[in-house]
Amino acid sequence: NEGALWGGRFAGGPADALAALSKSTHFDWRLARYDVAGSRAHARVLHTAGLLDDAELQGMIAALDQLDADVVSGAYTASESDEDVHGSLERGLIERAGTALGGKLRAGRSRNDQIATLGRMFLRDHARIIARGVLDTIDALIAQAEAHPNAAMPGRTHLQHAQPILLSHHLLAHAWAMLRDVQRLADWDKRAAVSPYGSGALAGSSLGLDPNAVAAELGFDSAVWNSIDGTASRDVFAEFSWVAAMIGVDLSRVSEEVILWATKEFSFVTLDDAYSTGSSIMPQKKNPDVAELARGKAGRLIGDLTGLLATLKGLPLAYNRDLQEDKEPVFDAADTLELLLPAVSGMMATLVFNTERMAELAPLGFALATDIAEWLVRQGVPFREAHELSGAAVKLAESKGVELWDLTDAEYAGISEHLTPEVRSVLSTEGSLNSRSAQGGTAPSAVAAQLDALKEQLDAV
Ligand code: ARG
Repeated sequence: NEGALWGGRFAGGPADALAALSKSTHFDWRLARYDVAGSRAHARVLHTAGLLDDAELQGMIAALDQLDADVVSGAYTASESDEDVHGSLERGLIERAGTALGGKLRAGRSRNDQIATLGRMFLRDHARIIARGVLDTIDALIAQAEAHPNAAMPGRTHLQHAQPILLSHHLLAHAWAMLRDVQRLADWDKRAAVSPYGSGALAGSSLGLDPNAVAAELGFDSAVWNSIDGTASRDVFAEFSWVAAMIGVDLSRVSEEVILWATKEFSFVTLDDAYSTGSSIMPQKKNPDVAELARGKAGRLIGDLTGLLATLKGLPLAYNRDLQEDKEPVFDAADTLELLLPAVSGMMATLVFNTERMAELAPLGFALATDIAEWLVRQGVPFREAHELSGAAVKLAESKGVELWDLTDAEYAGISEHLTPEVRSVLSTEGSLNSRSAQGGTAPSAVAAQLDALKEQLDAV
């Protein structure tokens, strides 16, 4: 087993079945450049500790730079016999620096502290890419909200008509959830910015190496305070995966609405041709596949999280090989979101809203009944009674097959002396919307203020 990182105490090489099972280069190779960066930093602390002289450090860095360039160009790749990215890159280093020098680099480090560190470096980079994608989606929602400042739509609870709302208010509800996702990624990064390098296999190093120097070179804020925690914990991976799943769920929820809105029955939106697909048999079809894939991929992201948590749940301290299973779920989560976010933001940005139809439907289904009840409260009627009286108006209108504003003054008066003709001031979508003007409400003035607050928080992330 030439080139393996271990073997001194073994009489023979691993069985083919073990070698195949053990192998991770097909997925951990994407950490190769982070591994080389870690090696450069490690070489420098070996030098500071007096374990590499000046010429050796220079030779080591030159060989690592060459290796890095060969990894980037594809001139150097993992071979069939390499177990993982770390072993393969040691082979590559020795090919470039010679055995005497190349063989010195492994002192004071372990694949256990390496992999825990490289994973964090990878995820920190990808968290930034994902945050950018979520911000683009938020920008698309804001642009649609700003393009339709006064458009009304039916607001729903239980998917039933509830109260009229502004389309912009509805769209920004999704934006706020996504803003929190971006904030979560930024907050997560504080916990991810701690480097396990220097923890060794589990107990730290006896060689006088400075973990904080490595941490600083690799862009971390600090080094871990506990080498066992550094090598064996993966909560930082799990938290990343949870935020990724939450982003997936948030994209799925807005996508579900786009799917409904694009139906003949709703007819609220038309999808841009560039973000819809056709049918191989039905020539008329225009399908919301982007939104459906977003809904589907949320399931996949949840699966990545639950798989990782299940891997972690029974593990005793410190490192166990089970932890090799930590990478594919988080890589998949990052890949999935990086694929999905540009499609969802593009779909959102290009949606065409049928605002006329939405406004027409906004007050239907007796959606102004709450306005009648609240109007009565403003006339001094206790809400409990006001609710009953408005309910009686709904019952009457429903039995006659008309809307609330079609009932006559006499019919209102017949329900209660409190229901004077002045009640008509709230029997319109506009009156209803304008009345909900406190912070967080759907009045145009409140939504304008909301938009300012949202932009302020976006500027702060
Ligand atoms: N390939 C391993 C992983 O992904 C690296 C650490 C292996 N350590 C060990 N002692 N076998 O977790």
